[in-house]
Amino acid sequence: MKTIEVCASRRYDVCIGSGLLPMLGHYTKTVCKASKVCIVSDSNVFPLHGQTAMDSLIAAGFEAIHFVFPAGEESKSGTVYLQLLNFLAENQITRSDCLVALGGGVVGDLTGFAAATFLRGIPFIQVPTTLLAAVDSSVGGKTAIDLPAGKNLCGAFYQPNLVLCDTDTLNTLPEEIFLDGCAEVIKYAILYDAALFSYLTETGPDFDRETIIARCVELKRNVVMEDEFDTGARMKLNLGHTIGHGVEAQSNFTISHGKAVAIGMAIVARAAAAIGICSHETKEQIIAIIQRFKLPTQTTYSADALLASALSDKKRSGGTVNLIIPAAIGDCPIVPTPVTELKSFIEAGL
Ligand code: GLY
Repeated sequence: MKTIEVCASRRYDVCIGSGLLPMLGHYTKTVCKASKVCIVSDSNVFPLHGQTAMDSLIAAGFEAIHFVFPAGEESKSGTVYLQLLNFLAENQITRSDCLVALGGGVVGDLTGFAAATFLRGIPFIQVPTTLLAAVDSSVGGKTAIDLPAGKNLCGAFYQPNLVLCDTDTLNTLPEEIFLDGCAEVIKYAILYDAALFSYLTETGPDFDRETIIARCVELKRNVVMEDEFDTGARMKLNLGHTIGHGVEAQSNFTISHGKAVAIGMAIVARAAAAIGICSHETKEQIIAIIQRFKLPTQTTYSADALLASALSDKKRSGGTVNLIIPAAIGDCPIVPTPVTELKSFIEAGL
């Protein structure tokens, strides 16, 4: 097992290893004084892992209850959020009790936002069961629900009390969902770690899960500790996301987040090479690693269509959008780009 310590507005550990879910009760005892614990999960994950989590909590002496909602991004809504808050109130969850987010990004974001706001904040534990949640969304305290106007538009920075990542739960993931998370793993390598990039180029998806998840978490931890509230360095985690969000939105969310981010990273790399920020070789390395993980590098959406979505990105500030552009593997500066130049940048990368 590997443990990464995060010291943000709350200090907590991220524990990564095999066989951790059956020890959920033991770990919960170490981080809070709850008598009641509410597991929040979805209709895909709870049937697979819910009983193990419940049994472990009960064996550790907790009263365990569960709230399960239909799997899918549509559930990250105000409606399900209010249903969850009402469920917590009806079950008399108090400020010292605890929520457990058992699932992927949707479960973690929704549960975190409920924990941040119910009774003005109660403890919560992230138990990520997808690779994407393990390396990204479960760490760093971004919690949110979607609004009809866009993804994650209502949320809070609220750090968990613990992240417990049982790598065994990744074994139940369909290959496509696992590869989706790999896009975020590749992102960390391009942003910060040339050695990780070389390793992943060799292994492809068959990498050592515990070691690589721990390395990604360590890289994210460093960024979160430098810029918890996303006003500077943390924006780099947006590599490929501004254009990727455009791809996701244009597809009406039929193209998954990981695939869209992969396409976004490829477009940015091609554009960076075309305007002379990175070398042809760096661009080719980025395209090759994305393809090695069976992720897409092209889109049929036009620059105009992608531009429209990019302009509604949260990272926009006045007349500029902060693009993260690879200059080399491990060196990706934030480049404030005037909105008026964005279309030609995207065109250069298509
Ligand atoms: N997922 C990007 C961040 O946590 O900042």
